[in-house]
Amino acid sequence: MPGLVDVETAEFVMADEAATQALGARLAALLEPGEIIALAGDLGAGKSTLARGLIRALGVTGEIPSPTFTLIQQYDTPYLMVAHVDLYRIEDDSEIEELGLEDALDYGALVVEWPARLGRAFDASRVKGRLDIVLTLDDADADPTSEKRKLTMTGHGAWAAKLKRVAH
Ligand SMILES: Nc1ncnc2c1ncn2[C@@H]1O[C@H](COP(=O)(O)OP(=O)(O)O)[C@@H](O)[C@H]1O
Ligand SMILES: [Mg+2]
Repeated sequence: MPGLVDVETAEFVMADEAATQALGARLAALLEPGEIIALAGDLGAGKSTLARGLIRALGVTGEIPSPTFTLIQQYDTPYLMVAHVDLYRIEDDSEIEELGLEDALDYGALVVEWPARLGRAFDASRVKGRLDIVLTLDDADADPTSEKRKLTMTGHGAWAAKLKRVAH
């Protein structure tokens, strides 16, 4: 991450869906405007589940639809403006520009699924802190019914110190 010098890494194992939602809630308590939580991992890994836990913890009581088709869902919560973004269906950089993500970052935080597709269209210099999370279905090959998910988290900038607080 250019400009964000501090880096911290941690690994977590989430036993079930509730654990992933609870982790989302812990991240919500630390999230501030100008920051990104980037959620990478295969379809069904639990990215949206984590995002919903985070958004729910900010006080959103209604439905939290997947942004798969709308690409972006914005929430104006008592604590923070948060935009939930899913870039799975993005095909080129011009579509990213239309989402207005830089503006959303100025007054709130972003939770982004498929963040690799942000590409060059996104001005990373506006980002104050970033938490990269890679979710993997560790045991899925051996046991397709396994609810275990491995989360590898890397905190950049302000999120380097915050990640230490999540881990302890
Ligand atoms: N530990 C876990 N964490 C998150 N989701 C889990 C877990 N175990 C099972 N699941 C299930 O896996 C699916 C994850 O779906 P979703 O969050 O939409 O994934 P993604 O957004 O990564 O495609 C849900 O059906 C959820 O119930
Ligand atoms: Mg999803």
